[in-house]
Amino acid sequence: MWGNAIRRQGWAVVLAASAAWGGIACTEKEAASPTGSGTAVAAASAGGGEALTPAVRKEAEEVFNSRCSVCHGPRGAGDGPASKGLTPPPRNFQDTDWQGEVSDEHIEKIIAYGGGAVGRSPAMPPNPDLADKPVVRGLREHIRGLAAK
Ligand code: HEC
Repeated sequence: MWGNAIRRQGWAVVLAASAAWGGIACTEKEAASPTGSGTAVAAASAGGGEALTPAVRKEAEEVFNSRCSVCHGPRGAGDGPASKGLTPPPRNFQDTDWQGEVSDEHIEKIIAYGGGAVGRSPAMPPNPDLADKPVVRGLREHIRGLAAK
């Protein structure tokens, strides 16, 4: 009787695990889609989903230039003046492998809460004043746009 119970539980775990795995694989494929339509789906599930306004896009560009490029570089290559001596170095956003692996949600989370909040280097600072504002999605979109073509 116990054996049966354990076996049944075991199956439940296997089923749950494979369902979760299927979900992850699907999301990553969508996020990595080069067509852009997949990215829109991922963005919709990541937060809000409504299209960014031109004002938000402009604000994101300004914030990137004033707060992020000092470390990540103006084109996101990870070569800003303050990148010197940082280990690990600021992420190179032009890296297409990284772009394919990382979710929109992760990008938005590290921007708002910093590297320390997501198990990354605390040298990546949090931006608590921007958290929950559309500009975080704008920054994520800006970062996606820096991928090497
Ligand atoms: C003081 C330097 C510094 C500044 C300023 C900075 N970053 Fe970073 N950033 C880093 C470092 C260092 C990492 C690498 C963290 C790691 O890999 O552990 C990083 C990583 C990231 C990542 C990648 C996270 C990952 O998991 O690969 C994103 C996205 C990011 N930064 C966005 C931004 C944005 C947007 C801004 C401006 C709002 C910004 N950063 C400002 C230093 C900085």
